[in-house]
Amino acid sequence: MAPKDLTFAVTRNENAKTPEEREQILANPGFGQFFTDHMVDICWSEWGGWHRPRVQPYGPISIDPAASVLHYAQEIFEGLKAYRWADGSIRTFRPEANAARLQRSAARLALPELPTAHFIDSLKQLIQADADWVPSAPETSLYLRPFMFAKEAFLGVRAAKKVNYYVIASPAGAYFTGGIQPLEIWLSTQYTRAGHGGMGAAKTGGNYAASLVAQQEAAANDCQQVLFLDAQEGKYLEELGGMNVVLVTRDSKLITPESDSILEGITLDSLLQLGRDRGYTTEQRRVSIDEVREGVASGEIVEAFACGTAAVVTPIGVLRNADLRIDFPVPAEPVSLSLREELTGIQYGRVEDRHGWTVRL
Ligand code: PLP
Ligand code: COI
Repeated sequence: MAPKDLTFAVTRNENAKTPEEREQILANPGFGQFFTDHMVDICWSEWGGWHRPRVQPYGPISIDPAASVLHYAQEIFEGLKAYRWADGSIRTFRPEANAARLQRSAARLALPELPTAHFIDSLKQLIQADADWVPSAPETSLYLRPFMFAKEAFLGVRAAKKVNYYVIASPAGAYFTGGIQPLEIWLSTQYTRAGHGGMGAAKTGGNYAASLVAQQEAAANDCQQVLFLDAQEGKYLEELGGMNVVLVTRDSKLITPESDSILEGITLDSLLQLGRDRGYTTEQRRVSIDEVREGVASGEIVEAFACGTAAVVTPIGVLRNADLRIDFPVPAEPVSLSLREELTGIQYGRVEDRHGWTVRL
């Protein structure tokens, strides 16, 4: 059944940033530090479904101290970007894939599924209010963060019957302060992120909470990200704290870990498609850390990279911990950077969008 249309009530922010303040922020946005003037808010209840869609001034959300999200972490989110094209128009990238993933996350967390049409409408509504916040400098974008959580106040452990969905937006430059310099990655052996049957494939706050102490360990060892191994055997690659991982082989294969406890990345899926378009073979399968060590030593693995919405594509230089060190080759013309160039070319309208991935907001 098609969802019924939502009519958004719009309240303009009377205290919006001035154009000068906004331009100052857009000149050097960093990542996730500044927020636009508006946000989207849609309510859901078991008896009323999705209702009361609003665009309202960005600001604090009032919740009851007994709201179940604060106790039982019933929460999910998404991340995608709005890009300013040279003609001034604003596009996003594969939003129906983010909508579908939000629905899968919702199913795992016993939250209501937001119909794809409402998801895309919510992005359009926010962009209509905050279009001036989409930056135009090279490699900048407006990061969109849809999220949903259990707002009902009660302390029994059960799925909430009252939930809210929001979208906020934050102008974004590079996620890593070093730009696209090869990353040093910490291989975590003490901590795992998610296990078989758990929530690893859902984009939910708990998975990120589980990654923080490992990420702290990475930072204490001068690494920018952490790589997790599987929880059962501690042998197979999973993913980084906030991005997927890909290996490139001498015989033109792109290999990425397969597991039911990692997030199915939309950037990853897109890069594998672009790789196949170029004649690369793609493999999604279990990859052991031993295979990586031996593959680099024998010259079979010629490159590794991290990918995700925030990080785009960033080469991996080193994978290490106290017991192991793998130095990946960083070729003069890395496949990772050429895939990055093609992907961002499509996202910013410089390269033909042969797969119909971009959507006007
Ligand atoms: N894995 C994790 C844990 C992430 O947080 C992300 C980022 O969203 C990804 C993978 C990559 O997903 P996507 O490419 O859809 O952003
Ligand atoms: C994203 O890439 O959208 C994420 O959610 C990852 C996080 C590191 C910001």
